[in-house]
Amino acid sequence: MPPRRIIIDTDPGVDDALTFLLALASPEIQLEALTTVQGNVTLEKATRNALSILEMANASHIPVAQGCSHPLLKSPHNSSEAVHGSSGLGQANLPEPKLKVIETHAVDYLIERFLAEPDEISLFAIGPLTNVALAIRKEPRIVTAIRELVIMGGAIRSGGNISPLAEFNIHEDPHAAHVVFQSGIPITLIPLDATYKCLLTPADIERLNKVDSHIARFIRDAMADYMAFYQQYEGFAGCALHDPLTLATIIAPELLKLEEHYVSVDISGGVSTGKTFADFMKVWKKPANMRVALDVRGREFVELFIARMESLIQKLQ
Ligand code: BDR
Ligand code: CA
Repeated sequence: MPPRRIIIDTDPGVDDALTFLLALASPEIQLEALTTVQGNVTLEKATRNALSILEMANASHIPVAQGCSHPLLKSPHNSSEAVHGSSGLGQANLPEPKLKVIETHAVDYLIERFLAEPDEISLFAIGPLTNVALAIRKEPRIVTAIRELVIMGGAIRSGGNISPLAEFNIHEDPHAAHVVFQSGIPITLIPLDATYKCLLTPADIERLNKVDSHIARFIRDAMADYMAFYQQYEGFAGCALHDPLTLATIIAPELLKLEEHYVSVDISGGVSTGKTFADFMKVWKKPANMRVALDVRGREFVELFIARMESLIQKLQ
């Protein structure tokens, strides 16, 4: 089988960075571009991080297009520093990238790429859905041109991680999520219900750092604050591989428990704004609009992630 061609829309972000590395380490995947969006950090920082990580991983041939600096309606949160560090990459200190963004805005870039090759490329959205929603509004034909849209976002049965009910990516731009969920694009949602079962531990980081390599050191330094945050607020040593788990849909789909449901998001402006919910009992009698990962064999995914990082470390030695 030829590798699956993907574009990642992203707000790097520590676990976003790990997603790029996992994609680059996976022969089943051909990473074709990154498009950036504000979320974990400002748009400028997100874009700089995307460029720096590609450079670090010898992947400067991959184009980066810069997208939206604000959610559709609400103000940006832009204060995930406790989780991702002030740069967005924890304590990792990557040099200023030489690589530059392409001229085209991410929304136009997505439209151009998907319309040029309908049904060939899949989109992985691992930040707020602002760019994706605007692309749908600007060029509705993109809906049938995207082969599949895999989203890290939402909390279906799980509690939230930015409010008691809502998950960060969806809460950051709930109106964009609403547009995307109703669009008709074939969607797979990877919510906190699954991602919180994929915990990378300090022992895993140590294991990767047995070999001296710049990639292993980057992972250790990038994850340091993220792990400290999890220890302080979630009460365990380790952190969830939220964004990398989206790639399990390609590299290890058998690990995911996927169910088809009608899923929506609350945009009413109250305490549950940004909450994603599934109509499990089919009360609304609406057809399913996505596949949702409600469970995963988490440790197996983490082991696969580590094995792929080990092979990338070897390759880039
Ligand atoms: C999501 O929010 C961000 O902090 C992570 O990068 C991930 O995309 C998890 O809720
Ligand atoms: Ca992210």
